[in-house]
Amino acid sequence: MWSGTPLFPEAASTMAPRVDALYFFLLGIAGFFSILIAGLIVYFAIKYRRRSPREIGRKSHASTALEVAWTVIPLMITMVIFVWGARIFFAISTPPPETLNIYAVGKQWMWKFQHLDGQREINELHVPVDRDVKMIATSEDVIHDFFVPAFRVKADVIPGRYVNVWFHATKPGRYRLECAEYCGTKHSGMIGEVIVMAAPDYQTWLSGGASGKTLTEEGQQLFSDLACNTCHRADLQGRGPVFEGVFGTAVTLQNGQKVTADEAYVRESILNPQAKVVAGYQPIMPTFQGQVSEEQLLALVEYVKSLPKPAKPGS
Ligand code: CUA
Repeated sequence: MWSGTPLFPEAASTMAPRVDALYFFLLGIAGFFSILIAGLIVYFAIKYRRRSPREIGRKSHASTALEVAWTVIPLMITMVIFVWGARIFFAISTPPPETLNIYAVGKQWMWKFQHLDGQREINELHVPVDRDVKMIATSEDVIHDFFVPAFRVKADVIPGRYVNVWFHATKPGRYRLECAEYCGTKHSGMIGEVIVMAAPDYQTWLSGGASGKTLTEEGQQLFSDLACNTCHRADLQGRGPVFEGVFGTAVTLQNGQKVTADEAYVRESILNPQAKVVAGYQPIMPTFQGQVSEEQLLALVEYVKSLPKPAKPGS
């Protein structure tokens, strides 16, 4: 209803009506109390004004009922805001199980996107309409913030971590993408566009302009270029663990601790191999810090992710 208002962004995702409803609720409460309080100030100022220079004020007594009322009512209102807000926050930060995954890297001052099929984009992001899309985002330098006002999603993108943001676009179109965290001189220029396309158009876009290699294939190439495969192999010469079927499972470390092999774990193990050594292996792997870019890390992560469980253990 506010889409024509220049101050109010378009609503183009499943999250938008939910966020807007809470926003208007807050606005309504703020408006109601502002009018109530301002009205009472004027009313009391007139009603209790000094009528003659010799008039002396009367002593008034506190009313317990009134005190309780103006404590309990605001408490209930703020609890409604808290529970409502927390529910939306959880919905935004919990991606559905089946999503279309796209990697994002923020850097001073641009957004880089990497699709699983191999396409790369800068400051433009093509996504299909009516699909759950998950961004797996990180930063190459400082903290940025991925913000698409029309989708009502916003998430800090932090160096050294993978942050998940998800959305479900509801109508095709072009929407503004911005960085919502001050990140240096050209922060205000760190803007782009999300292009939401109908499914067939998206397929056409995907098939055109690809580098010819999927992200997984690129990761596989890197895996041998960086000689990872000289240690991470299944035969007797294998000095490091093999990765088939490992992604998403619990890994036991030397100190007995268990960690989930997620994107952040794979990334850390490449850059800082001594941090989490898998039980049964020696801490002999060299660091790859400085040798692989964030984009190459994504390809390696995606490659490790793609490796299926072996049909027979040990075969
Ligand atoms: Cu990146 Cu502000």
